[in-house]
Amino acid sequence: MSDDKADPEDFNHVELPPAPPEVVERRRFLARVSVGLGACMGLGVGAPMVGFVVAPLFRKVPHEWRSVGRAGDFVVGHTVSVTFADASPLPWAGVTAKTAAWLRRVSEDTFVAFSVNCAHLGCPVRWLPDARLFMCPCHGGVYYADGTVAAGPPPHALSQYPVRVRDGEVEVHTEAIPID
Ligand code: FES
Repeated sequence: MSDDKADPEDFNHVELPPAPPEVVERRRFLARVSVGLGACMGLGVGAPMVGFVVAPLFRKVPHEWRSVGRAGDFVVGHTVSVTFADASPLPWAGVTAKTAAWLRRVSEDTFVAFSVNCAHLGCPVRWLPDARLFMCPCHGGVYYADGTVAAGPPPHALSQYPVRVRDGEVEVHTEAIPID
């Protein structure tokens, strides 16, 4: 069998005639239209998603009064942890939308609420009732019972939330996490 005879089964060696210029031009045009439509669809789908994720970051943090419990449930002189929804909970935040404070009933009608976030780098501080100190486990920050710094790297006292009693409910005024 001679080599120069084309095998009809061998499609790899079939040589097509060059496409006429108008066909090449049409293919190029269709390719550009496809890329353009793809980009438009990508923008149409992607832009709202990016906006949904990014927009809350630029929203002004609202200040809200949040109830943390009935005043009668707190004992004078005791400091307890209370939780409440943070200043600006995001729709997808789930349990992370909760924040906490250390609430102390100072007298019958006076409460103070300390931020749980250390003034150094924001780690949660713990109240040690026997020592009457707040301790930060991260770098050894220590605060006195009134929130002022006793030792360690915190640059200033624990932040406090405004507190009020309304209709028998203790309410904490939410703010962005008050750390430096
Ligand atoms: S974060 Fe509390 S001492 Fe560093």
